[in-house]
Amino acid sequence: MPAISATAHGKIILLGDHAVVYGRPAIAIPVDNVSVHAYVFANPVGKPGEVKIEADAIHLSAFLNDLPADQPIVLTLKLIQQSLGLPHLPACTLKISSSIPVASGLGSGAAVSVAVIRAVTNFLGHTLDNEAVSKLAYEIEKRHHGTPSGIDNTVITYNKPILYQRQAGFSDLHIPVPFTLVIADTGISAPTAAVVSDVRQAWQNDPQAYERLFDQISALVFKARNFIEAGTPDQIGPLLTENHLLLKELSVSNDILDRLVDTALQAGALGAKLSGGGRGGNMIALATPEQAKNIANQLLFSGAVNTFITTVGPF
Ligand code: MEV
Repeated sequence: MPAISATAHGKIILLGDHAVVYGRPAIAIPVDNVSVHAYVFANPVGKPGEVKIEADAIHLSAFLNDLPADQPIVLTLKLIQQSLGLPHLPACTLKISSSIPVASGLGSGAAVSVAVIRAVTNFLGHTLDNEAVSKLAYEIEKRHHGTPSGIDNTVITYNKPILYQRQAGFSDLHIPVPFTLVIADTGISAPTAAVVSDVRQAWQNDPQAYERLFDQISALVFKARNFIEAGTPDQIGPLLTENHLLLKELSVSNDILDRLVDTALQAGALGAKLSGGGRGGNMIALATPEQAKNIANQLLFSGAVNTFITTVGPF
């Protein structure tokens, strides 16, 4: 029997990571080099509620009812069931494949949620609009990591560049002139929840200092938005590097991220920073298309376990 399927891409935060949790703006961009695919196969001979989940990337192959209730995919399926008012899900197999490294700042958790929500609701005969998909995915984000800003589920659901602000919502980011990013993976998986929680602790201990840092980050985000929308994206290079230094002051960088940022700059990047929660995961560097390959190679020499080059825009 043919499967019902859905795809969700990864994301990067260009500027504004962490400060966005505290109501400041951030810029996020979908990255279609990495993605999650969810497939649902009907099982006409299975019993109602008998749902098999297969997710190779996390070595999972089990029935829904045998898994802990707080397992993220279980949570997603239960939320879908509740939101549609169903007593149980029909017998089926849910297969998930992903090329997004887990806990790497590329939005793997939100991408799994969005792909599963779309595939399973379509399988059940419902077409949810983007707002409903993003809202459900946000519920799952909250259970994963306490106080998410909502930026990951939003950019991944809408699959377009956005300027996101917690209270104000999001607006489209226009990118008339494309730009090139080199993305480098430290190979260290760093769950966002733990880093976000450490920042909260530090903010509680010294709110004035942290609010000041968040305001400085906010100013960089607005400047970057103006340069990008004016068609001069190369000008955001120094803003990225400044944002990295502020993230360092928030204590969310580490030696390898700092080393990769330095390497990228020495190899000619226009700017570089960590992206996402930090303490591992990925860093991003703005490059000219001509220099991108060399920068990616230098990052590999400097300890990155993987790199890829992506062109952002035009949008
Ligand atoms: C999310 O990818 C990165 C953080 O800004 C947390 C959040 O926005 O929820 C660190």
